[in-house]
Amino acid sequence: MTPIRTAILISGRGSNMAALIDARQDAYRVALVISNRPDAEGLEAARARGVEALAIDHKSFASREAFERALDEALRARDIKLVALAGFMRVLTPYLVGRWQGRLVNIHPSLLPKYPGTRTHARALEARDAEHGCTVHLVVDEVDSGQILGQARLSILPGDTAETLAARVLELEHTLYPHSLANYARKLAHMENER
Ligand code: GRF
Repeated sequence: MTPIRTAILISGRGSNMAALIDARQDAYRVALVISNRPDAEGLEAARARGVEALAIDHKSFASREAFERALDEALRARDIKLVALAGFMRVLTPYLVGRWQGRLVNIHPSLLPKYPGTRTHARALEARDAEHGCTVHLVVDEVDSGQILGQARLSILPGDTAETLAARVLELEHTLYPHSLANYARKLAHMENER
């Protein structure tokens, strides 16, 4: 099967991005990494892996839509068919979400629908949950909603802090994301063949 040309959008260290590239899945191929922050560590990590990496600084655009138009153009210019958000810290507007409907995936560090938004690890601890984890889902207009493509869970241990929990969940993310993205890419390829 021809791997689906995939881009990853990041804002920071890019550990999930690195995991997505390093997993060497045959259903998707990471052809581009874009960061909205020019100083994101992940850009160098992508280049070190031989992947084209661009900064498109949201601060240099007059509006959210102008920024998203630039993203959209960069993605289309490289014939990208699937976009994975990995620690991308900009909320996308219905403009970009609409143009990439069904082709925009995100990872979130909680067992959605629990704890959309921020401070997910602290909130799971405050609620005295027995379990916590991460979710890969399709992006829709409402933040951290959208069809769930995969989840991985772990037990919260006595003595866990938000930091210890975040570190264990991050390890889970690094295996869940490549696996869920590859499954979804297979589904897209299948749908395209049917057409
Ligand atoms: C991850 O916890 C991810 O779930 C969340 O942001 C964090 C990004 O980390 N959306 P990294 O940049 O992939 O290391």
